[in-house]
Amino acid sequence: MGINDYAAVADLYDIYVPATFDIDFFITETKKISGDVLELMSGTGRVSIPLIEAGVNLTCVDKSAELNAVFAKKLEDLGLKAEIHQMDVRELELGRQFAMAIIPFNSFSHITSPVDQRKTLERIRQHLRPGGIFICTLTNPKVRQKTVDGQLRLLRIYPLPETGGELLLWIVENRVPEDARIVEALQFYEEYDSRGVLFSKRYIELYYRFTQRDEFEALARAAGFRVNALYGDYSRISFNEDSPFMIWVLEKAD
Ligand SMILES: C[S@@+](CC[C@H](N)C(=O)[O-])C[C@H]1O[C@@H](n2cnc3c(N)ncnc32)[C@H](O)[C@@H]1O
Repeated sequence: MGINDYAAVADLYDIYVPATFDIDFFITETKKISGDVLELMSGTGRVSIPLIEAGVNLTCVDKSAELNAVFAKKLEDLGLKAEIHQMDVRELELGRQFAMAIIPFNSFSHITSPVDQRKTLERIRQHLRPGGIFICTLTNPKVRQKTVDGQLRLLRIYPLPETGGELLLWIVENRVPEDARIVEALQFYEEYDSRGVLFSKRYIELYYRFTQRDEFEALARAAGFRVNALYGDYSRISFNEDSPFMIWVLEKAD
């Protein structure tokens, strides 16, 4: 099993991530520009499909063949089209430029080394046309760190419509000993049938980095971006130290 590899739970992803809180935000932002949009770390197309349905010409990149396959099947079933590339964003190479790039759902935090973060930002910049916009979503470490305490927690119980059973998602998060800014999250997925009998248990191992505001801003500027806005949530309230999110709207500098 690899790190930040969602393969083992690709068939469950859409059940345990029913989130829609950021969709309107991305539809509005993509409508502000004209031209093609690049979505990085797009997974099963949670954000991508509503964007395509809203008329956005979207190219998607994710390193997971299994999540990309779930996404491709959903596109086919809906009669929609988008390019999907299986690629590591640290090695992004599509040979063309876009009007906008987006990374929804705090996924940039899976890039845990500053060297890789800088390289990824530079690759993204190369894929933007002059004046292109990059929206990068992160959590606010001050708020997010509250559950990083080594406690095993039941995050939620989800109904499993096909079997009449339930999916239980348990999470334990710890800072890694070598670098306190990196968090290891073990996620355990238990499927129970309608009688309450456990019939499947799987886990994945995720790593993410807590990037502070100043750290990300310096990184973005060094990679050739200027900051157009920093929101603290998806209603576009300005970021403050207690905001849940850091939503960066960056512009490719000349
Ligand atoms: C939290 S999921 C988010 C998926 C989707 N954007 C969403 O909003 O539901 C993180 C995604 O990042 C992808 N990912 C992680 N590291 C990656 C990398 N280095 N290059 C490309 N994709 C990566 C994973 O495969 C996964 O699909």
